[in-house]
Amino acid sequence: MKTRREFLGAGLAVAGLAGCAKHLPLRTATPVAPPDLTTGAGSLKAHAAARGFLYGCAVDVGLLAKDEAYARLIREQANIVVAENAMKWGPLRPTIDTFHFEEADALVAFAEQNRMKVRGHNLCWHRQLPAWFAVEATTANARELLAAHIAQVAGRYAGRMHSWDVVNEAILTTDGRADGLRDSPWLKLVGPDYIERAFQAARTADPQALLVYNEYGIEAEDAASETKRAAVTVLLRRLKARHVPLDAVGIQAHLTAGRKYGAGLMGFIAAARGMGLQVMLTEMDVNDREWPADEAIRDGVVADCYGGFLDLALADPAVRAVLTWGITDRRTWLNGEGARPDKLPERCLPFDQKDAPTKAFFAMRKSFDQRRIS
Ligand code: G3I
Repeated sequence: MKTRREFLGAGLAVAGLAGCAKHLPLRTATPVAPPDLTTGAGSLKAHAAARGFLYGCAVDVGLLAKDEAYARLIREQANIVVAENAMKWGPLRPTIDTFHFEEADALVAFAEQNRMKVRGHNLCWHRQLPAWFAVEATTANARELLAAHIAQVAGRYAGRMHSWDVVNEAILTTDGRADGLRDSPWLKLVGPDYIERAFQAARTADPQALLVYNEYGIEAEDAASETKRAAVTVLLRRLKARHVPLDAVGIQAHLTAGRKYGAGLMGFIAAARGMGLQVMLTEMDVNDREWPADEAIRDGVVADCYGGFLDLALADPAVRAVLTWGITDRRTWLNGEGARPDKLPERCLPFDQKDAPTKAFFAMRKSFDQRRIS
């Protein structure tokens, strides 16, 4: 039987390297895989969990079914998911009497199989309403339509949801109303109390889910954001004063690289905390539309934007979840609505077109790690 040294020497002789054998350590190392720095203990969900909050993403449920790499990425990184479209009125309810729950059910099943939480998005919104809505919804039936829809949809998943975006994007101050409410179909058909009606119906349908008011355009240090933040704050206070079952506010956080984020955002989060609300960053991404084509420049400004924004927001203990609107640059709404003028794909999410972690991934993780545990 050959000794270990003879065995090694023989092998190296074959390779013409026998002269080197005496310099090799006698203990052959068991092959050790290079440390995987971005999954498992290195994943976004693990780093968030270590600081007491959730990380997750919006999911294109159609893609989930046919793209294993996409599914694996979500499994590896997220401990909370939300359907990008599948639970909205349009995709869910093609006719007034027909519900297509297949995709929504599939997402909830995926989450449960992988021990993730699920957010519901959304129960009442002015967009992505089915085509029949404009014809069939009237002032006579809209209240019942809203209540019954919420009973059916939120009721179907009762006890299994982390949270529901009950009302989405109800404020638009430029519509000119004193109360800041958007001139939405729901406002026209039901009246301003559609918001509290929706929350009441959601609480009845699912007493366990956190009920969320979700809004965009309230993040930046500019006049438009400031005005909208003020109107949203008034709305939240009014709902709380009327004992509407509201548990959290969702700050969508569709950000633009290069914009300023700061005291206005922090004041808004603190005000929400003061009302006893949780805060979630529900749809985070960073648009690089205002930057030149150069990828290194874009990656740098996008990462800085993620890091700076998260450093601010995560400093407040009210913030309990961070979700990006997608996870890989392969699938982002930003290449559709409001795409870059040069039509280059946006570099807006924590994973790139090849599903490799971006600078933004590492910036996010660094911000997660800096959060103080209260
Ligand atoms: O599913 C159809 C497909 O059958 C059809 O062939 C295709 C042709 O255009 O359209 C597909 O539907 C599109 C759907 O996304 C799925 O890709 C809709 O046209 C398109 O309008 C829809 O856009 C979604 C948008 O909401 C609708 O308002 C985006 O994916 C989704 O990311 C976006 O998400 C919103 C949040 O819900 C609320 N906050 C803002 C955020 C970004 O707008």
